[in-house]
Amino acid sequence: SARPIVFSGMQPSSASLHLGNYLGALVNWVALQETTDPVYCVVDLHAITSQQDPEALRADTRALAAQYLAAGVDPERSTLFVQSHVPAHTELAWVLGTMTGFGEASRMTQFKDKSQRFGTEGTTVGLFTYPVLMAADILLYSTELVPVGDDQRQHIELTRDLAARFNSRYGETFVMPEGFIPEASARIYDLQDPTSKMSKSAASDAGLIRLLDDPKITAKKIKSAVTDTEREIRYDVAAKPGISNLLDIFAGVSERTIPEIEAEYAGRGYGDLKKDLAEAVVERLTPFRERFTELLADPAELDRILAHGAEKAAERADRMLGTVYDRVGF
Ligand code: ADP
Ligand code: NA
Repeated sequence: SARPIVFSGMQPSSASLHLGNYLGALVNWVALQETTDPVYCVVDLHAITSQQDPEALRADTRALAAQYLAAGVDPERSTLFVQSHVPAHTELAWVLGTMTGFGEASRMTQFKDKSQRFGTEGTTVGLFTYPVLMAADILLYSTELVPVGDDQRQHIELTRDLAARFNSRYGETFVMPEGFIPEASARIYDLQDPTSKMSKSAASDAGLIRLLDDPKITAKKIKSAVTDTEREIRYDVAAKPGISNLLDIFAGVSERTIPEIEAEYAGRGYGDLKKDLAEAVVERLTPFRERFTELLADPAELDRILAHGAEKAAERADRMLGTVYDRVGF
């Protein structure tokens, strides 16, 4: 196709996404539909590298797909599907795994961090080969661009190395993907600890805005956000991380830019800013929550959308897998 192919995915590992996922990823995914050919996946195969409860995984998978849709992912303009519905992902991962060095995989810092925490017996081979499955996800679709956070850069490098290795051994097969951080994407921080990234794995819940939370809870968390002892509403990440985070969120959920918001609140107090921000966040998330609720209320329609997406994805993935199998000698 003429448009660059984009691949991205999130793990179904909680019932609700948070505002960091929304402003840092989903908003860009939706925007990319204007200029690219995007493939958006619910990566449930990756999710079982952490111990999961089957019923929770099933529910979280559907809920995550519904959150993609509620945010504006359009199943006609995007290829939206659940990873386990397309077996080519695991099949290509096997082939790529046979081309991945043990030492090379051992150097992945995310694996090193996690395996240190889990210990030798608690660390699975699946966790070890996770980046190989991620390489398969990306390479199956001839992906050119992978919107990622910093923590995934090393995995993208591995993907590129595997693509180059396969191509040099068997002939041009895979497109060389590139990771990129979309320009508009905001890094959102914890409201109680504004130098730590907002994350589902935060120690405390108080600084985390969940997209599906009750609006009253959302407003209360924003009004209790940590700021500083000055009075000036000014964007300065180093000196004023709390206020800067609130300004990033405000710009992200509204049509305004940070300088416009700074100008509007010049000479006004933090309380005013927080009150208006709480309203703006709730106003932005209300239609999202309503659409989410509608989608979950009609499971047959959601299944139809995901089956349609899996069909589109499989058509593309199977073509690539067929070429790979042929080159390998199957
Ligand atoms: P978490 O950190 O909560 O575990 P994930 O690692 O599952 O989130 O990230 C899913 C997507 O959301 C990725 O694209 C990631 O870059 C983005 N993301 C996660 N947290 C933030 C954040 N605080 N600010 C901006 N983007 C974020
Ligand atoms: Na804006």
